[in-house]
Amino acid sequence: MKILSVVGARPNFMKIAPFVRAINNGSRTQKLPITHTLVHTGQHYDFAMSDAFFQELGIPSPDLNLGVGSGSHGYQIGQTMIEFEKAMLTVRPDWVVVVGDVNATAAAAIVARKHGTRVAHIEAGLRSFDWTMPEEINRVVTDRLSNLLFTTDLLADENLKREGTSPDAICRVGNIMMDTLEYERPRAVELDPLQILLTNQILPERSVDACRYTELADYALVTIHRPSNVDAPEMLTGIIEALAQISNVLPVIFPIHPRTQKKLQEFGLWEKTSSSAQLHFTRPLGYRELLRLNMGARAVLTDSGGVQEEACVLGTPCLTLRENTERPITLIEHGGTNRLVGNDPKTILECFQQAASEPRHPFRPEFWDGHTAERVLHRLLEA
Ligand code: UD1
Repeated sequence: MKILSVVGARPNFMKIAPFVRAINNGSRTQKLPITHTLVHTGQHYDFAMSDAFFQELGIPSPDLNLGVGSGSHGYQIGQTMIEFEKAMLTVRPDWVVVVGDVNATAAAAIVARKHGTRVAHIEAGLRSFDWTMPEEINRVVTDRLSNLLFTTDLLADENLKREGTSPDAICRVGNIMMDTLEYERPRAVELDPLQILLTNQILPERSVDACRYTELADYALVTIHRPSNVDAPEMLTGIIEALAQISNVLPVIFPIHPRTQKKLQEFGLWEKTSSSAQLHFTRPLGYRELLRLNMGARAVLTDSGGVQEEACVLGTPCLTLRENTERPITLIEHGGTNRLVGNDPKTILECFQQAASEPRHPFRPEFWDGHTAERVLHRLLEA
């Protein structure tokens, strides 16, 4: 069987690593008859956003890099389709495997189906029901086109059934992100949060140097990059003000996505980081570094999908700075640690105070057990 899998942006890399490992293990130990081609669309291209993850997670170099890079949605999707079509016609796979919800995911699914190639989607069925999110469009399009839909949880199955997906095409395998989390956890535990901060901090003028800390045992962790939070100056200013207030109480570590850094600079907020606040920006962190910080954080404030899931399994109280989530299984009402707080500074502060006083409460939905990739491969081989 010829499998071609596709990655494009940072959150894809944690999802593909266990799948590639499962293929390699299966080929070696059980002589599974699989030929695998890995295609990187090149949507993320900085070392810290891409190559660093391939190295750290042991993903083999992509067989092909389409070099798509940055641009508008139309440009990224269009350029990916043009280049991916050439790759697919050369490889002629039996299955195209796509993961997550980035532009690369939807673009590859469209091209594959148009050529009559079967598509399998890992992380199918997630819905925020928010059509202003580019990722929601990618999720719906990809799922509608997929022949096999690998889901993370029961709620995702229900979404797909409601949309009319054949139950035979839905296969609940759990969350492949947890394969990576469990695989990397022992090495992440060994890392020291203060060292992570000292090695990666970026020091805008007037900001506080973390060197004065002797240890970092209690802190809040922040990751924010969604256009809805960072692209409008009033929105981003409010969020930064809320974070500055939290940082008067305890250190705030904020690994910064290129989009967010660009916007902070554009809106004149970058150099204004208060000299009294303990708000520390860092470069984008490696997978283990971020996992380690999530393990020890008093609370995490995020708009990332993956961080919500990781916080849930680690038991870290999580504030999601959005009005909705496509990952409701992580919410407190379903047993998780996640609460939706939107992006109003006052609400963020109130919810932070509440969350920061809560004990850690790890929650692991069914099949989030570190063996999802094997289930995916097993099912693909049967198809
Ligand atoms: C993309 C995904 C999003 C995911 C996020 C994680 C889509 C629609 N969005 O959003 O779902 O949560 O990745 O990171 O696919 N940039 C760099 N270096 C890079 C990559 C990007 O500087 O290596 C800059 C680009 O120039 C651009 C901005 O960051 O200005 C945004 O990049 P883009 O790939 O368009 O979307 P993300 O916001 O990263």
